[in-house]
Amino acid sequence: MASSAPFDIMRVRQDFPILSQRVYDKPLVYFDSAASAQKPRAVIDAIKHTYETEYANVHRGVHYMSQKTTDAMEGAREKIRSFINAVSEREIIFVRGATEGINLVADCWGRQNLKPGDEIILSQLEHHSNIVPWQLIAERTGAVIKVVPVNDAGELEMDGYEALLGDRTAMVALTHVSNALGTITPMAEIIRLAHAQGVPVLVDGCQAIPHIPVDVQALDADFYVFSGHKLYGPSGIGVLYGKETLLNAMPPYQGGGEMIDLVTFEKTTYADLPFKFEAGTPHIAGAIALGAAIDYLTGLGLEKIAAHEDDLLAYGTEQLGKINSLRFVGTAAEKTAILSFVLDDVHPHDIGTILDREGVAVRTGHHCAQPIMERYDIAATVRASIGLYNTRDEIDVLVKALGRVQEIFGS
Ligand code: ALA
Repeated sequence: MASSAPFDIMRVRQDFPILSQRVYDKPLVYFDSAASAQKPRAVIDAIKHTYETEYANVHRGVHYMSQKTTDAMEGAREKIRSFINAVSEREIIFVRGATEGINLVADCWGRQNLKPGDEIILSQLEHHSNIVPWQLIAERTGAVIKVVPVNDAGELEMDGYEALLGDRTAMVALTHVSNALGTITPMAEIIRLAHAQGVPVLVDGCQAIPHIPVDVQALDADFYVFSGHKLYGPSGIGVLYGKETLLNAMPPYQGGGEMIDLVTFEKTTYADLPFKFEAGTPHIAGAIALGAAIDYLTGLGLEKIAAHEDDLLAYGTEQLGKINSLRFVGTAAEKTAILSFVLDDVHPHDIGTILDREGVAVRTGHHCAQPIMERYDIAATVRASIGLYNTRDEIDVLVKALGRVQEIFGS
């Protein structure tokens, strides 16, 4: 249940033990949540609690501990179902992260459905994890990749998208929020247009789910993937949502224990959803702790989190915008949580190194999204990504630290 209390940022920060650390004798200013978010005590405690008091393998034992652990893990699955408003828990597949979720769909759905000449629509905004799995399956099936261009602000060119959708289109796989620029794509419209042509849509929701409420039924997404570690949960656990009819029709991804119904050397039959796609012992504590992360976020209130982050994005855009030599990369009208920029004549890695010495953690580089860097004819940006625990004061520290960069480079 969301609390009616106001969003007290200083109180919220106390929930994240790591934020009280100092680095190089300066307070840690963590602006790298898009790479991986820090963990609230509720998540850390859930992992500890699992291993200390409620741990055994799941879905296998008749004994007390196995039942308890199974209940906790399946409870987490239900929390995730409710969080994204899926119809059924059978549609929630635990995977290692978004990367594995996309690989699973590309491989299992693609093997069964793609034919030579079929087209898979991606965009210039995509993370490598929503490009390479499709290239791999395209190589195996003879399908081809088509790419939606983006405009100078970093928004999808919807005319270009519509022009690509056609008789040959077999799949649309697009990001909900760009990890490199923060652009929010018009996903409901993207899906509506694809469905009008009978084409399924996979949504890479990694960077959306920590910042904007996601309702897979309202979106009518066919597949929606995200990673736990960007949602304040543990690394090594993530979610693939898929419509039950689509998942049921797909062959399994990996073979092993847990995913079978009956095995003989002549023939094996498979378990029902979601277990058909969960071969082997899963990341049990990770799944339970992801459930705890969802409880934590729901308790704070998703709308309050979004309002706080939007305020920081607006403030950061305004304050960084005052730096003459700074140029934002990605200025979409619909944007969340990302300040990506370059400074005249200073390499992003040098900026990142100097910021680090001031206690400010940012990511520099191509952010595993080389095609969008190529679109802007740059090799890299500095990316300050905002999490629910950041403050306006921290934006001021970032601006001051960028002043230090300018002093050093005389820019
Ligand atoms: N995909 C993560 C990022 O954007 C790692 O940094």
